[in-house]
Amino acid sequence: MRMERQVALITGASSGIGQALAAELAARGVQLALTARSMVPHPEHYTCAGDLTDAAFRETLVARTMERYGRIDILVNNAGVGLYQPSWQADAAATRHMFELNVFAALHLAQLVVPGMRERRQGMVVNIGSIASKVTLPWFTLYSATKHALASFSDGLRMENADAGVKVMLVCPGYVKTKFQGNVLVGRPPDELASGKRFATTAPDLARAIADGMARERRTLVYPASGWALVAAWQWAPRIVETFFRGLQRDHR
Ligand SMILES: NC(=O)c1ccc[n+]([C@@H]2O[C@H](COP(=O)([O-])OP(=O)(O)OC[C@H]3O[C@@H](n4cnc5c(N)ncnc54)[C@H](OP(=O)(O)O)[C@@H]3O)[C@@H](O)[C@H]2O)c1
Repeated sequence: MRMERQVALITGASSGIGQALAAELAARGVQLALTARSMVPHPEHYTCAGDLTDAAFRETLVARTMERYGRIDILVNNAGVGLYQPSWQADAAATRHMFELNVFAALHLAQLVVPGMRERRQGMVVNIGSIASKVTLPWFTLYSATKHALASFSDGLRMENADAGVKVMLVCPGYVKTKFQGNVLVGRPPDELASGKRFATTAPDLARAIADGMARERRTLVYPASGWALVAAWQWAPRIVETFFRGLQRDHR
């Protein structure tokens, strides 16, 4: 898709991947509407601070972005949060909060913007999932459930809108160096995963890959691409992957 002069609404744009993607898209000539609870005014871009778990705020956000730009060509559902608790004892309120942000906010925003995209017969929804959209991580079971839901929603939304000019891309990053781990609602990751941080990617590198993927109208972006090996192993040899994951998780129980 052509990027220049497009209008993109990016959620979770105050830090990490969302902030880096905003910088990357701005450099490619995209006009931006940025949101997060702690979003501060920006000299060039429209900003709107608020809590995306509040449905009324989501409606206000889209209405104000439409007032400002008259259209939304690209929706990036990036805001998300994690929860490190076993599913069988997870805090119910925290779990609902995570599903509201990671799944229902993304769905509601798509419902608010896709009709306009369909009318104009062009647009793109970019959902920031995770490698946990493709593989269930046992230290992150319910987070994985939200990201699997986002993946199914993305695939379905793409097929529903294939004849209406609306594209949908799912992004599945591995570990990215951001404040995400510090912002989890409850718990902490297994210590063994700390060694995996050596292989972490950076938000600016991921943002570049996302922008390239958008330009090429890709369906799914697994980043880094080596993550596809894990996805394939999970598909074809799930017992081996489960055994490996249980080993990583052992001291976490
Ligand atoms: N970092 C990773 O390793 C990694 C890997 C795979 C996927 N992801 C996914 O990437 C996305 C971005 O994560 P990140 O790594 O950039 O984490 P981050 O630095 O913690 O950023 C999260 C963003 O979401 C916003 N946010 C959180 N709760 C919100 C709420 N209730 N309402 C509105 N905005 C809210 C935060 O801003 P405020 O706090 O100001 O609201 C922030 O801008 C998430 O969907 C995450 O699941 C991350």
